[in-house]
This record gives sequence, structure tokens and C-alpha cells, in this order.
Amino acid sequence: MVSCLVLSEITRLACCQPTQVSYCEQHKIHTPPPAKYGGRHTVTLIPGDGIGPELLNHVKELFRFSCVPVDFEVVNVSSATEDDINNAITAIRRNGVALKGNIETLHTLPASHKSRNNLLRTSLDLYANVMHCKSLPGVQTRHNNIDIMIIRENTEGEYSSLEHESVSGVVECLKIITRTNSLRIAEYAFKLAREKGRKRVTAVHKANIMKLGDGLFLQCCREVAAGYPDIAFDAMIVDNTTMQLVSKPQQFDVMVMPNLYGNVVSNVCAGLVGGPGLVPGANYGRDYAVFETATRNTGKSIADRNIANPTAMLLASCMMLDHLKLHDYATMIRNAVLTTMNETQLHTADIGGQGTTSEVVQAIMRNIQRSRRLKLHL
Ligand SMILES: *[C@@H]1O[C@H](CO)[C@@H](O)[C@H](O)[C@H]1NC(C)=O
Ligand SMILES: *[C@@H]1O[C@H](CO)[C@@H](O)[C@H](O)[C@H]1NC(C)=O
Ligand SMILES: *[C@@H]1O[C@H](CO)[C@@H](O)[C@H](O)[C@H]1NC(C)=O
Repeated sequence: MVSCLVLSEITRLACCQPTQVSYCEQHKIHTPPPAKYGGRHTVTLIPGDGIGPELLNHVKELFRFSCVPVDFEVVNVSSATEDDINNAITAIRRNGVALKGNIETLHTLPASHKSRNNLLRTSLDLYANVMHCKSLPGVQTRHNNIDIMIIRENTEGEYSSLEHESVSGVVECLKIITRTNSLRIAEYAFKLAREKGRKRVTAVHKANIMKLGDGLFLQCCREVAAGYPDIAFDAMIVDNTTMQLVSKPQQFDVMVMPNLYGNVVSNVCAGLVGGPGLVPGANYGRDYAVFETATRNTGKSIADRNIANPTAMLLASCMMLDHLKLHDYATMIRNAVLTTMNETQLHTADIGGQGTTSEVVQAIMRNIQRSRRLKLHL
């Protein structure tokens, strides 16, 4: 009896939490456009742990080299203190946009310690995680011609940080699925699909077992799909999805799913196109956007050795430039990254080469210089 009361109380709190009506929404304040002074944008830069700091240094270097009109406000965040992450969140609220490395979360920490990365996403209500997994030129993989967009609900589900030991030896870990947030992510996926000229959206679920939770998610996707007759909709159970992905990934177009399945499926997809060093990721909310590598690894074991693959972070910075509507710069850097990728002798160790991080970045700079010269001659 007591346990039920406690549980319903927690659930009530939890159900209020993920909807997270932001301060602006409550007070009907119009969201200001991203900070832009004298024609330049200011972006929050969170170096994070592991390979984050060195990769972000390369981004800075490349932006300077390419004369990108972006200034960075660096905010250091460590797992140690609560102040750091609050400073970072305040800085992102001010600038609207951030580029970040992953902040380490030790699983040995007490349950009360929330992942800083997760805290940042939920505090800023960055509800849509978007990852575009596309086969890259020059990278040898088992499957070719992959082009999948994964839209992952980013604020609730299994990541609600609501766990408790109800009696000794029994832990309840709450997975929260709300109608509001499921409709919101489904709408995001369909809108993006239409914008990008995609043909089909697949909802990933386990509604045969979690009939209420995943059932609600699936129902919301169906409702939204009805408003997009130009885009096909289907649904696939998560276990079949992972099997289909590793055997015939070309069958997928746009995928939408709750938080944990998104985590698993996006890592499978990153593996399919060459690994964590290659794929960028973005977290979008109504008011803010934060860019990072798709698989959110810290890469601690290869940190400070000049061997990390810079591709994922550089492509994340291009997604950020597109978000700032600096499309020409985004295209220029992205093309240089992909051209460099095609020069296989420069590959870093993660994709079978012997190149160093700085060699790859220098080659990208040479390609940028070349494309600039071509432009001048036109
Ligand atoms: C962040 O940390 C780096 C490396 O430890 C240091 O050089 C830099 O001054 C710090 N920046 C701020 C704003 O605290
Ligand atoms: C798994 O997906 C494939 C491809 O869409 C489909 O043909 C098959 O029926 C699915 N299997 C199950 C058990 O759902
Ligand atoms: C990659 O290189 C191959 C062979 O050198 C070339 O045929 C192909 O067009 C290149 N692709 C891109 C995207 O640059």
C-alpha cells in the first residue's frame, strides 16, 4: 500500500518533469535568435573529457583557418562539482548553441549522481537527438549505400533517472513514456522526413511486451503519421530492427524511437558505417541546440595520443554551422572532410590506417585551400 502510494507519487512527479514547460513557454517570452554580435556568432564550447578537448581544439583551428564567423565561449565541465554544469547550461541559454565533447559518467558513482550529459539535455529540453548515418567514401565496410536518419526521443523513457530499491533486493527503475513527448518526437521525425525529401518513417518499439508504455509511443507515431500521407509509415520491433540492420541496412530510411532503443540502434548504425569516430550527432529543442559526436563516447583510452579520428566532431561542427545558417562554410568544411576521407592513406587507426589526427586535419586544410583557389579562378 505504502509502496503504491510512493510509486504513484514518483510517477506523478516524473510525468510532470519530462514535459518541462520551459520558463519561456510559461511566461510566453519570445525566444531570441542565437547570439550574433557584429555579424559573428557566439557558441558555447564544452571540451568534456577524453578526446573531447583535443578534437575541439582542431575544430577551433579549422574554423580560424576557414575564417568562420564563430567565436567560442569555453566552459569547462568536470564530473566533480554541480556548479560547472550549471554554468554550462547558463552559457548555452545565453548563446543558444553549443558544441561539446562527452563528459565522463562513472557507473561507480552513487545513484543520486545524474549524468552531466543527461542533465544538460533535460535541463535545456533538447528533446530530439538526430543522427544521420551515411556510408562514407573511402571507408571499407561490410555494407554499402547506407543512408539512415535516426530520430531518438532524448528526454524521458529509460533515462528518467527514477530508480529506487522498494524493499531490499528489489529495484524499480521507471521508464516514463508520455503522450506529449511521444507526439512531439514523432512530429519532429515526420517534419524532418518531409523537409529532407525522405519517403518512409519506421517507428521502433517493443509494444508486444511493454503494451502500455511502448504501446502509447507507437499509437502517437500512428496518429502523427496520419497527418503525413506523403510519407509511408511502418513499425518494427526493436530486436528485429537490430537484426535487420546488420543484415540489410539499406531497407531503412528515417527511424523514430524512444530513448534507450535510440541509444542502442544509433550505436549499431555507427558501427555499420565505420565506427564512433565517423558519425556526428545533434540534440535539438525548441530553444537550443547542442552538437556532439553521435555515439557520445569519451574515448579516454586514446586521449592525448594524436590518434583519434577527428571526422565525427568535425562533421558535428558542420551540422552546427548549418544550424547557424552558415551553409557555405558548412558545405566547404564538410566537402573537405569527405574528400580527405577518400584519401585512404590518411586514415586513422580506427578505420585501419596509420594516420594521426593532426595529419588528417592538415589534409583537410589543404583541401579547403584548394577549393578556395578553385572558387577564385571561377
Ligand atoms: C579550461 O581548461 C583548460 C585546460 O585545463 C584551461 O587551459 C582553460 O584556461 C580553462 N578555461 C576556462 C574558461 O576555465
Ligand atoms: C522483421 O522485419 C522484416 C523486414 O521488414 C519483416 O519481413 C519480418 O516479418 C519481421 N519479422 C518479425 C518477426 O517481425
Ligand atoms: C573517391 O575516390 C575514388 C577513387 O579515387 C573516386 O572514383 C571517387 O569519385 C571519390 N569519391 C568522392 C566522393 O570523392
